[in-house]
Amino acid sequence: MTNYRTFSPSLQHKIDTLKARRESIQLGSIGFDSPLLLAPMSSICTAPYRLLMEQLGAGGTVSELVSCHGINYKNDKTIKMLEIHPLEKNIGLQLFGEDPQAMADAAKFAQDCNPDTPTKFVDINMGCPVRKVVSKGGGSALLKEPVKLGKFFSTIKKELNIPLTIKIRTGWDSDSINAPEVIHIAKEEGIEFVAIHGRTRTQGYSGLASWELLEDIAKLKILPMIGNGDLHSSYMVKERMKQTDCQALMLGRGPLRDPFIFLDSYKTDEDNFHFTPTDHLEVIERFHEYLEDYCDRERTILITLRKNIVWMVAGYPNVTHFRNAMFRAADIKETMAITKEFLTELGESKKQIDHTQTFMAGGHG
Ligand SMILES: Cc1cc2nc3c(=O)[nH]c(=O)nc-3n(C[C@H](O)[C@H](O)[C@H](O)COP(=O)(O)O)c2cc1C
Repeated sequence: MTNYRTFSPSLQHKIDTLKARRESIQLGSIGFDSPLLLAPMSSICTAPYRLLMEQLGAGGTVSELVSCHGINYKNDKTIKMLEIHPLEKNIGLQLFGEDPQAMADAAKFAQDCNPDTPTKFVDINMGCPVRKVVSKGGGSALLKEPVKLGKFFSTIKKELNIPLTIKIRTGWDSDSINAPEVIHIAKEEGIEFVAIHGRTRTQGYSGLASWELLEDIAKLKILPMIGNGDLHSSYMVKERMKQTDCQALMLGRGPLRDPFIFLDSYKTDEDNFHFTPTDHLEVIERFHEYLEDYCDRERTILITLRKNIVWMVAGYPNVTHFRNAMFRAADIKETMAITKEFLTELGESKKQIDHTQTFMAGGHG
């Protein structure tokens, strides 16, 4: 493992100050460093990004969805997705599939494949709305036939000696909101917690997540519950934390544009500091180091870096001009140099993001 560069004293001080305000929580038998968790996101929540977010205050993280069949076929790319960084602490690996035994075999493999840094739990994706997944009976299609779920859960659980958890949507469509029924079955079978994205499968990513419904479900207190959907800014997170009956909240797209969202959610009016453009630069440089360690191909590093940098600088002035220049950059070195120049010149600028505009209306959960 590389000796990573340290953050500057000024950034580290801000991180430490805000991290110290977090309170650890227990969801069933699983402990997290705070009730604000990073949501699973395909092609994003690989080890480097999860580790970065954990260091920037996420109380825990979940991997991207990984195919149970890919695992059982020992597909190289799929197995790579199960890799956990030695510095990661509170991580769960998420699997998707429709066949109970195939899921059970894959779950056992996922449990055992990082002997030095084992996953804390295995999570089942029951929210993916993507046709390719639901047409085979996986993802949110699992919500359609709750009678099959008892056997599904128990078959998987039998193979594991770590906790099993689920991430669902509120139901298949507005006529079949059945999250409470699904959670009751999950409880019977010893599932540890449920994360719920407050939309139905049919909604995809349209409209808004129904927090009214999420809170109604949370009040039933069937299982420890994590609420999820549209918490895009630290302001929105703080407002929700003040009033929620959920034990924890999960953030997906928010952290992509604000890597400090987990920390800023603990900031008060008395704090006379903010995360500056050069703080963002340090985060990007740290992320680059993690990617160098994790990725086998330079091209993958370049594509991942570019994608995340564009998201991370969203809301700063002159972003369009910067983005065009960065996408013309020949290699990683030039990409990093252009990014450094852009963020350094921004001085103490603050971000302005219009959260009413749609951002990434698509995903696997
Ligand atoms: C690009 C992208 C990929 C996603 N991939 C997954 C996934 O692999 N597994 C999953 O359970 N949910 C996945 N989701 C759903 C998120 O975990 C989350 O439920 C959803 O984005 C709503 O939360 P948010 O508004 O905080 O982003 C994905 C979402 C996005 C935008």
